[in-house]
Amino acid sequence: MRYVVTGAAGFIGSYLLQALLERGHDAVGWDSFTDYYDPALKEQNAASLPVTRIDLATDPLDLLETDGVFHLAGQPGVRSFGGAFPTYMRQNVLASHRLFEAAVRARTRVVFASSSSIYGDAAAYPTREDTVPRPLSPYGITKLAVEHLAYAYGRGFELDAVALRYFTIYGPRQRPDMAFTRMVSSLAEGRPFELYGDGTQSRSFTYVSDVVEATIAAMEKAPAGAVYNVGGGVEVSMLQAIEMLGRIAGRRLEVVRAPRVEGDVARTAADTSRIHAELGWEPQTPFAEGLGAQWRWAADRVAAR
Ligand code: UGA
Repeated sequence: MRYVVTGAAGFIGSYLLQALLERGHDAVGWDSFTDYYDPALKEQNAASLPVTRIDLATDPLDLLETDGVFHLAGQPGVRSFGGAFPTYMRQNVLASHRLFEAAVRARTRVVFASSSSIYGDAAAYPTREDTVPRPLSPYGITKLAVEHLAYAYGRGFELDAVALRYFTIYGPRQRPDMAFTRMVSSLAEGRPFELYGDGTQSRSFTYVSDVVEATIAAMEKAPAGAVYNVGGGVEVSMLQAIEMLGRIAGRRLEVVRAPRVEGDVARTAADTSRIHAELGWEPQTPFAEGLGAQWRWAADRVAAR
């Protein structure tokens, strides 16, 4: 199949594009290499992949020869109050709007990355897809807006779109602003890790290769208009994750406390019964194994310097 992956130089997008190519698909990546974090890391992610520099918000978007688009491009990060809001609007809402217009013209299926952050402090745990969304971050608000755009284009113009609500994805090459990359890098370099809040906040942390499987399954099997949680099997608090890392690495991570940051939710817990029933997907990677892989990645990088 001919596929396009947007955000293909990012953490999840680069794994997805690699997996599609390994499965024999004719897949290419688009990425605008924004400076949300060091673009040199994105260049490294994309080094052996066919990724073209395209800005979804302004460049011509041609999907006419494409069977499906995996739309993972966007401005990430839940701690998003303040002056960056126009950037979140542009990279998430305006970019997705243009992509959906192009997909309608080409009658191309879109599987896109939404986020657990659309639930905010959810009304119920584990959280099902039909829970009323109440995002607590500007980022989450823009991700929810993209879901609504997809729905409206589906109703009005037969856009064939599937939304995947990813729950805190981790693994080797995770974004440098995210907790686990900061934890493993701090430990490998002998620096303290700054913990926001008291560490009781918890997440359905989800391993990156499991997310790739869910995302490809959604493209191949999901009905148009479907919405799925993509969440790891267990809920883990930050204190438990820090403790687990200490056991894996054989030495303790030094922690310094910092205030909780607005936009952060206290808890995410995915109910994945819908994606299991409809696509046969469930997370495969035990937490200790996934965190161990991320730890070895960081330790090897430091050792190679
Ligand atoms: C992550 C991603 O950053 C979002 O892009 C994504 O949309 C979201 O998951 C999601 O699931 O939808 P988050 O859950 O905040 O957001 O992921 P981490 O950055 O790994 O943070 C996990 C916890 O660690 C948070 O409570 C955060 O406050 C804490 N943290 C993070 C620290 O204590 N210190 C840090 O340096 C970074």
